[in-house]
Amino acid sequence: MKEHITVLKEEAIEALAIKPNSYVVDATLGSLGHARAILDALKGTGIFIGIDADKTAVMHAESELQGEQTKVCTFTSNFRDIRDAIGACVDGGVDGILADLGWRMDQFGGNGRGFSFLVDEPLIMTFGDPHAYPFVAADILNTWEEDNIQTILRGYGEERFSGRIARHIIEARRKRKIETTFDLVKVIEAAVPSFYKQGKIHYATRTFQALRIAVNDEFGALEHFLRESIALLNPSGRVAVITFHSIEDRIVKHVFREYVHDHVGVLVTKKPIVPTRAEIEANKRARSAKLRVFEKNEKV
Ligand SMILES: C[S@@+](CC[C@H](N)C(=O)[O-])C[C@H]1O[C@@H](n2cnc3c(N)ncnc32)[C@H](O)[C@@H]1O
Repeated sequence: MKEHITVLKEEAIEALAIKPNSYVVDATLGSLGHARAILDALKGTGIFIGIDADKTAVMHAESELQGEQTKVCTFTSNFRDIRDAIGACVDGGVDGILADLGWRMDQFGGNGRGFSFLVDEPLIMTFGDPHAYPFVAADILNTWEEDNIQTILRGYGEERFSGRIARHIIEARRKRKIETTFDLVKVIEAAVPSFYKQGKIHYATRTFQALRIAVNDEFGALEHFLRESIALLNPSGRVAVITFHSIEDRIVKHVFREYVHDHVGVLVTKKPIVPTRAEIEANKRARSAKLRVFEKNEKV
């Protein structure tokens, strides 16, 4: 598995305030950076539950965490199903839940599902079995109305040329179905102004991101995960979430605020915790990271 630099490691572990004998969930195992730090804090006691939607990450965890003194349960599943994972491993709730959102870059290229605009593949973009999804990326591009396509490009991709791209998609598909990643790149290329093609990020990045988020209902999954997590916490338990995307951060902020308003718990920090300048210098990806932490009330 490609080297992944764990972001906000110390901050996240401190935020979870892990005590020996507690039950802790890492809902995004990845390359185990946070998972190992959680296990260190558990000092051989308690229960560790690890989840990742990526089977390779879970298989890696299973082989790496063999022989841990702490009881380890692992699950290949979307974190939206955290209730099932916890229920399969422990009776009752848990004391800490961490999610470090995002996908590692090596998960995207060349897996045949069309996540990368650099490889010519069919436009599928599902993380799981495509048959289990209501629609794939090609369905959005070839059947959705222009307005709806524009809405996801703007809302999920924060694409400033969403209107022009949506219009070009409709025009292109009248002539021929948009079937592959390169078909789509050509449509975007024709839609956006030339200065945009010289920008820091590739002109297709935001459209691809928006389609991926829509196909996998990533924001819906995050919101469901947050609500389930708060429900599944023991009294004084904590949920810590690291986001890299402004819309995801907004979802976390709003859900946490709603539960504070309803007197279910408190925010551990009013403002999100962000990486130090030294961390950002060492790892550019940390730049947009935000950590928010919620603590459930002692009496619930
Ligand atoms: C940024 S990485 C986590 C890195 C990890 N904390 C570490 O230190 O190595 C994010 C991981 O979350 C997983 N992931 C993303 N969205 C998910 C979801 N909805 N459900 C379960 N896993 C998800 C990805 O497969 C990826 O392995």
